[in-house]
Amino acid sequence: MALKPDSCVVLNDGHKIPVIGFGTYAPDTYTKEQAGESTKVAIDVGFRHIDCAFMYGNEVEVGQAIRSKIADGTVKREDIFYTGKLWSNNHTPERVQPALEKSLNDLQLDYMDLFLIHTPVELKPGDDPFPKDEDGKLIFNNTDIRDTWKALEACKDAGLVRSIGVSNFNRSQLELILNMPGLKYKPVCDQVECHIFLNQSKLLKFCKSQDIVLVGYSVLGSSRVENWIDQNSPQVLEDPVLNTVAKKLKRSPAQVAMRYLLQRGIVVLAKSFNPERIKQNFQVFDFELSDEDVLTLDGVNKNMRYLSIDVWKEHPKYPFHDEY
Ligand code: A2P
Repeated sequence: MALKPDSCVVLNDGHKIPVIGFGTYAPDTYTKEQAGESTKVAIDVGFRHIDCAFMYGNEVEVGQAIRSKIADGTVKREDIFYTGKLWSNNHTPERVQPALEKSLNDLQLDYMDLFLIHTPVELKPGDDPFPKDEDGKLIFNNTDIRDTWKALEACKDAGLVRSIGVSNFNRSQLELILNMPGLKYKPVCDQVECHIFLNQSKLLKFCKSQDIVLVGYSVLGSSRVENWIDQNSPQVLEDPVLNTVAKKLKRSPAQVAMRYLLQRGIVVLAKSFNPERIKQNFQVFDFELSDEDVLTLDGVNKNMRYLSIDVWKEHPKYPFHDEY
């Protein structure tokens, strides 16, 4: 079926997710207000799916932006698909619903469309999102993730969120949840890093077999924040093969990078704080890659992860030791 600006994927719980979403995480060089302003631009140019998280520190501003676009008649609440995420200091079951309620209060929304466990790695429960010991090392905790999941299921039953899912989970971590006794709701998605250099073909195949949607972040190669990302790593948008395909199709490398994922059935999150590029990133529905173009781009995969988050490596639930 041809992809259109309002195309959605039906989730395994019956709700629908728009195939393209706007990412709101900003490096420190941007203000939280800029995240809000960019969210308004994104809604104006057609984005209906907004991806945010408590950890981004901008739910107040992003919520304001969404509400202002509802107030001025551009959209209705039900047109918007809002994703939030449970941060790692709130995995213990009794902390899950209060964390969701705190986000909803910041957003001034009655419900989220999707709430994800942001990462399987857990930090010490408490108010500090990055608890550290005297040596400056992160303090880990290790709640059974299935107990966290049960608490998410209760949030769905309470009507605070329509759909629940996970992020940064590997296959065996997904299987742990899928195989848990008394599972009430399957995760609807796994949101993971995904781009032409990390095309996630194996995880995608597994997710499809389980009716789980793979949602891709850093699809343009991330914003390359210095603290987190190796500044010498190759850049997605400069890849020569991608640029050759883009030139042939008379599109930008960013548009082709997104289209490549969309055509493989991946839900794509694109992030930009530049109005022209936000607009450009939504213009991905009036051209198509041939099967041959897709195969050509398959060839540039190098299983290269930008966001490997080395400070988590010693946690027993570090997700990226496994191949996928
Ligand atoms: P900017 O905000 O200045 O547009 P990702 O979605 O992979 O995290 O990538 C985000 C990065 O890609 C940001 O640095 C963003 O910068 C840049 N970017 C977003 N859209 C485009 C585009 N269409 N062309 C070039 N760079 C883009």
